[in-house]
Formats: sequence, structure tokens, C-alpha cells
Amino acid sequence: AAPTRYEAENATISQGVVESNHTGFSGTGFVNGDNVAGSSLEWTVNAPSAGTGTLAFRYANGTTSDRPSDISVNGTTVAAARSFPPTGVWTGWTTVTLTAPLTAGPNTIRATAAGAGGNPNFDYLDV
Ligand code: GCU
Ligand code: CA
Repeated sequence: AAPTRYEAENATISQGVVESNHTGFSGTGFVNGDNVAGSSLEWTVNAPSAGTGTLAFRYANGTTSDRPSDISVNGTTVAAARSFPPTGVWTGWTTVTLTAPLTAGPNTIRATAAGAGGNPNFDYLDV
């Protein structure tokens, strides 16, 4: 089935703000997380049935350093310090995709900054 799009600006933000100063985002903006380890973004996504889901995170990282993020599903880490490599400029958006087990119904997907640089800017999560 076609994925459902969950905009970052509609997610629950811990230590960060919604901004729109870098063009190319989907929806009304993106999330600029504070540049500290532990800042996070949490989406609630709905899965029609239990099974392996594809999670596609659209992000930008205009620095020259990786912005690793711990990805968890329903409280379990599914990708520790997942790499979000530089995209060249803050208007350069790209997608990191991974698979993870989902339960039927609502699932909590969280991206928690794993390094002192914080998360990349997140635009959306497609599931
Ligand atoms: C810049 C940029 C922000 C970004 C930040 C960062 O301030 O404008 O969008 O979040 O760098 O380094 O995380
Ligand atoms: Ca930031």
C-alpha cells in the first residue's frame, strides 16, 4: 500500500521548534531540534496490521558531520545511532529508510538525538 505521510511539524517535539526558513519542506515546515543529545521527535503512526513496516525519514543536515539518531518503535530501539549524513545544505532534503516491526493500530516512533550535535532537521516520516 502507499505510505501515509506524518509531518514532523505535527509530531510531539521535545527540545525543538517548528521552523520554515529552509525551503523544500513538505507541509508547513520542519522540526529544528535543539543541538543536544536527547532532543527528540515522536510520531504516532497507524498500522493496518501487524508486520514489518517501512519507515522513511525525510531530513536535511547542512553540516559536515553526521547527526546520528536513535530510532525506537513502541519504546524499543530498532536502530541505534542511525546515521543521518550531511546533505550539503539545509535546503537539501533526502530520505533515510529502515524497516521495523509494527503492531496493528497506533505505534509510537521516536527519533532521539544520539550525538551532541542533535538531530538533523526532520521534514516528515512516511510509513
Ligand atoms: C542552523 C540551521 C538550523 C539547524 C541548525 C543545526 O541553525 O538554520 O535549521 O537546525 O543549524 O545545526 O541543527
Ligand atoms: Ca538543530
